[in-house]
Amino acid sequence: MKHYTAKAHTNIALLKYWGKADSELIIPTTSSISLTLNEFYTQTTVWFDSTLDQDRVVLDGILLSTKASTKVVHLLNLVRQLSGLTSYAHVESHNHVPTAAGLASSASAFAALAGAASRASGLTLSRQDLSRLARRGSGSASRSIFGGFAQWERGHSDLTSFAKPIMEEVTWPIQLVTVLINDQPKKVSSRTGMQLAQTSAPGYQQWVADTNAANSAALTAIFNQDLATLGCLAEENALAMHALNPTATPPFTYLTTQSWAVIRLAQTLRNNKGIPVYATMDAGPNVKLISQPHDTSVIMQALHQILPNVQTQIATPGPGINIVEGDTI
Ligand code: ADP
Ligand code: DP6
Ligand code: CO
Repeated sequence: MKHYTAKAHTNIALLKYWGKADSELIIPTTSSISLTLNEFYTQTTVWFDSTLDQDRVVLDGILLSTKASTKVVHLLNLVRQLSGLTSYAHVESHNHVPTAAGLASSASAFAALAGAASRASGLTLSRQDLSRLARRGSGSASRSIFGGFAQWERGHSDLTSFAKPIMEEVTWPIQLVTVLINDQPKKVSSRTGMQLAQTSAPGYQQWVADTNAANSAALTAIFNQDLATLGCLAEENALAMHALNPTATPPFTYLTTQSWAVIRLAQTLRNNKGIPVYATMDAGPNVKLISQPHDTSVIMQALHQILPNVQTQIATPGPGINIVEGDTI
């Protein structure tokens, strides 16, 4: 069987997905808006093999256990259903992003897997259908099919819940300074964290209403290249999402003392120096500073004053999924 390799980039949500209206189909409670990143990605090769007696998933050179490959096998089962193929598959994946650290590895991973597996099975899906398929592996992956800014409209069914491009070529100066506080796997996965918040945090419904309402304002800010409005909306949304988690039963948080120091730094740089810099965090302690390339050196200097040894990486807008036929990587 032919090998297909797909490269998909991670995306960071500016307005977040944090809860499911349907957990089997992964229909979210909120529409979300993201920026796909050039510097972080997953590359995955898939080929079906009639001699296998189960799917074989290798991540960064390590053969995954049955338990660790559950989500991958789930997506492969969907591909088999769609294509009519019955054989098992080889999956070889490389993450160019820390795995399970709140830097959206599941977004690039399941977008790349959906792309490579569907093509290897003989399917040629539209980008909309690819987004729907990727969504079934990990919700945030629906947005990684597209480059630049994308919106995942929550929809109300398998057919109506998919991401679409808002602005794939980003020509205005926007970047995320990624502050690496801890690149180790988190203790509470995104899947578990959002379920806890949704089922037990008292403010959850209000957060859903606010997030859905903020979508149109964020779209306008993107079209107007209005970093200040977009940044404020994003920071507010992330802080509100992270405020839910300690009020859940049992309570939990992804943010550490160092995360809070970086969040405060963004607020101080804005208030005292008038620099447009805004913080956002996903399900992990690492903070991304939404900012302009022009302000990089001031931001880096200020960061290293408070956290002298902290690692950073600049992330810029990146492309959508790319799928090629060829050899294993
Ligand atoms: P993240 O913040 O990195 O998206 P999640 O908790 O959403 O964290 O997802 C992490 C999980 O995604 C991992 O534990 C693993 O099951 C899966 N994953 C990440 N990268 C890959 C990959 N390249 N191939 C298969 N599964 C992956
Ligand atoms: C905080 O897409 O990783 O990054 O659908 O259960 O796999 P599952 O969760 P996932 O959740 C992402 C949560 C987030 C916000 C976002 O990316 O929108
Ligand atoms: Co994830």
